[in-house]
Amino acid sequence: MSKVTVVGAGNVGATCANVLAFNEVADEVVMLDVKEGVSEGKAMDMMQTAQLLGFDSRLVGCTNDYAKTANSDVIVITSGIPRKPGMTREELVGVNAGIVKTVAENALKFSPNAILVIISNPMDTMTYLALKSLGLPKNRIIGMGGALDSSRFKYFLSEALGCNANEVEGMVIGGHGDTTMIPLTRFATYKGIPVSNFLLEEKLEEVAKATMVGGATLTGLLGTSAWYAPGAAGAYVAEAIIHNQRKMIPCSVALEGEYGETDICCGVPVILGRNGIEEIINLPLNDKEKAAFKASAEAVRKVNAGLKL
Ligand code: LAC
Repeated sequence: MSKVTVVGAGNVGATCANVLAFNEVADEVVMLDVKEGVSEGKAMDMMQTAQLLGFDSRLVGCTNDYAKTANSDVIVITSGIPRKPGMTREELVGVNAGIVKTVAENALKFSPNAILVIISNPMDTMTYLALKSLGLPKNRIIGMGGALDSSRFKYFLSEALGCNANEVEGMVIGGHGDTTMIPLTRFATYKGIPVSNFLLEEKLEEVAKATMVGGATLTGLLGTSAWYAPGAAGAYVAEAIIHNQRKMIPCSVALEGEYGETDICCGVPVILGRNGIEEIINLPLNDKEKAAFKASAEAVRKVNAGLKL
């Protein structure tokens, strides 16, 4: 039996659980929240779509009852406060660090072999906190930011190209920050053909810019942080692990010399499978991209410095 726990049944967590169940990623999906009744209610509401949508996964909701999460293969952590318009992800570090550490410790007591997928912001720093404080091997700690940012990148590329987003390949690496993430336009393709064959340099720059502020744009429109794509990105990462898909997905992972960085979690392409991170892919970056990655890692490091480890 496969089982995924989603901690935090807010917008992102509930969306993630919904996608996991709808796609039958796991036999059982448990949602846990601190707010009395919320995850029970959302789980029941979703279970009442099972017949309509035709899925077999079982959704369970619970209020802070970690025993219900026992023996999960993957634990997705979405807990913490989301950003409000005008706020950066980085401003959330103090409050969310305590929450993320506590829920991860509680969940691991019941699922000591689980792989952690971190969604809570600031995502790279929360992933680093998990790495430094939980004593897990690095292959079991994965921040999902690059999956989300890459999906946004492919959306903006597809809009510019006038095609379906599934026709496009593209990755975003670096930190999950508005000014520091790196949409790799040089490697992006439309059906395997470099996008520079179809789009002018200025258009590509526009696409990259829109991708970088993708989260902030939505926060401005919604009054709180986005949830459909963040939740689906968490489910996408969990699915690659549970189904041993060996997909290449940019994720925030511990770097030990790769990309010239150590003692940091930052977004790079990895192969995700049953062991979590199966492999880190070393991209042949040019000098400009290398410099951008260095600057991005520095920005992540500055936020990490705000952690009390
Ligand atoms: C975003 C938040 C979840 O990018 O970081 O929408």
